[in-house]
Amino acid sequence: MRLLVCGAAGFIGSNFVRIRVRDHGDEVTVLDKLTYAGRRENLRDVDHAFVHGAIEDPDAVAGAVEGAEAIVNFAAETHVDRSISGPEAFLRTQMDGTYTLLETARERGLRYVQVSTDEVYGSIEEGSFTETSPLNPSSPYSATKTGADLLVASYVHTYGLAASICRGSNAYGPFQYPEKLIPLMILNAMHGDRLPVYGDGMQVRNWLFVEDFARGIGHVLEHGAPGEVYNVGGPDEAANLDVVRRIVGLTGADPGLIEHVTDRPGHDRRYSLSSEKVRTLGWAAQVRFEEGLERTVAWYRDNAWWWEPIRSGEYRAYYERQYGRALG
Ligand code: NAD
Ligand code: DAU
Repeated sequence: MRLLVCGAAGFIGSNFVRIRVRDHGDEVTVLDKLTYAGRRENLRDVDHAFVHGAIEDPDAVAGAVEGAEAIVNFAAETHVDRSISGPEAFLRTQMDGTYTLLETARERGLRYVQVSTDEVYGSIEEGSFTETSPLNPSSPYSATKTGADLLVASYVHTYGLAASICRGSNAYGPFQYPEKLIPLMILNAMHGDRLPVYGDGMQVRNWLFVEDFARGIGHVLEHGAPGEVYNVGGPDEAANLDVVRRIVGLTGADPGLIEHVTDRPGHDRRYSLSSEKVRTLGWAAQVRFEEGLERTVAWYRDNAWWWEPIRSGEYRAYYERQYGRALG
């Protein structure tokens, strides 16, 4: 297929493009604004065309979409903590950006896939959310992702746009920016920095290896019914403290580095997705958490070229603002 993939200089999008080009022979144009989270290096081994621009810029989108049969949208501001300290960029990208892409898809009659998140359903004490569960977002991040999902649904309902929504659980793996729990803890553990666990650390996430998520999005693109929502959940759930302890074990770090810090405001306690519907398209997660975490720790250990420029750049100032202490 000929695809316009937005936000693919980031974590999940770059893994998606790598798999689509390598295993499916897709021709891909990437449109990315290159925020702090977007890096050309993430795609240095992948054949693709690249357009530097924002999804909320109609001219940039019009230039990038030429020749595409479908748009897959990963572009978003994605970090919950940053949405709490500064929500504005989240509104611009999630709302204006998604709107611009939907208009483009509508004008040209293109297939459209919106990459979304389990966070739109909010927190669940027990059991799992299905695609018909009510939307109940908690943070500015999840509220703007929910807004984008509702806009996509309105274009299906009103204009008959051939759009699907794919909601994933917490992804982890190679190329994830170290503001997120797993890469942050791996790199801190490797460097002997403190491991900051929010609150009691008993918040539970449903961990999904990034290649499984990428393949799930590909299944929805190829086999999903227009107008439908598909949950793509990880095969294993774990409490944060358990995740951090496993990383301490895998890196050989001192367990004394674990430090409980002030909790995230409005922190969701548990996410859980039922993936029954996407399984009917032929998708199943292939990587269990134990294996995926080992592979992820090994990737960060072997790819200092990727994270060294991050850890020595603007990220240091972000880290100090967020955690009130400098990285070692
Ligand atoms: P990321 O933060 O690693 O990458 C986001 C990418 O989008 C970056 O390349 C950035 O430069 C680009 N971008 C941001 N604003 C843009 C704009 N206005 N125009 C063009 N490009 C822009 O994100 P990620 O973790 O790879 O997440 C990708 C998508 O998957 C997001 O929509 C996110 O909500 C969703 N998602 C993420 C997870 C997860 O665990 N990381 C889980 C479920 C869903
Ligand atoms: O659930 C899917 C979502 O997963 C995606 O939609 C988001 O884009 C992605 O950022 C992620 O959101 P979370 O808030 O769940 O991920 P994060 O890595 O920020 O945090 C995971 C858990 O770890 C959460 O309970 C908060 C906790 N945490 C996080 C950090 C960064 C800590 O205890 N300490 C930390 O330093």
